[in-house]
Amino acid sequence: MNCVGDLIFSPDVQNLEHYAQHGDISRLRHSLNVSYYSFLICRIFGLHYRDAARAGLLHDLFFYYWQDLSPENTKSHVLLHPRIALENARVITKLNRREEEIIALHMFPLCGRFPRFLETYIVSLVDKICAFMEALTFIKRIPRLCRVKIASRNR
Ligand SMILES: [Fe+2]
Ligand SMILES: [Fe+2]
Repeated sequence: MNCVGDLIFSPDVQNLEHYAQHGDISRLRHSLNVSYYSFLICRIFGLHYRDAARAGLLHDLFFYYWQDLSPENTKSHVLLHPRIALENARVITKLNRREEEIIALHMFPLCGRFPRFLETYIVSLVDKICAFMEALTFIKRIPRLCRVKIASRNR
């Protein structure tokens, strides 16, 4: 909280709760996951954990449903949303060079540029692992959701 306390309760970050990110996991929950695990890893390895926590929280600061995009727009979303998140993040806080890079290149290697900072590799990897685990959580819930639907239909 010492690292991200001033950001977490900002209206823009709280607004992420209204957007689903992976399955029914909200973009705020996803951002908190990425922020926290990046913070832990960077802290263990003596890296810039504050920058990783802050940029991890802001890395997906965009306000539209990417799930509703057409296949073509989904492709450009993958490359464009880090830039949108960076612009939105600049509005709510002053970012240092490392935080800027983490947000801008969190889709590495898809972004086509090699990051300079180790923290960017870590946040990028944590982002992918969190996305996978969040999607898995949702997939695991599907049989239960189906049962609920079938049960309610049989009533
Ligand atoms: Fe992202
Ligand atoms: Fe993400």
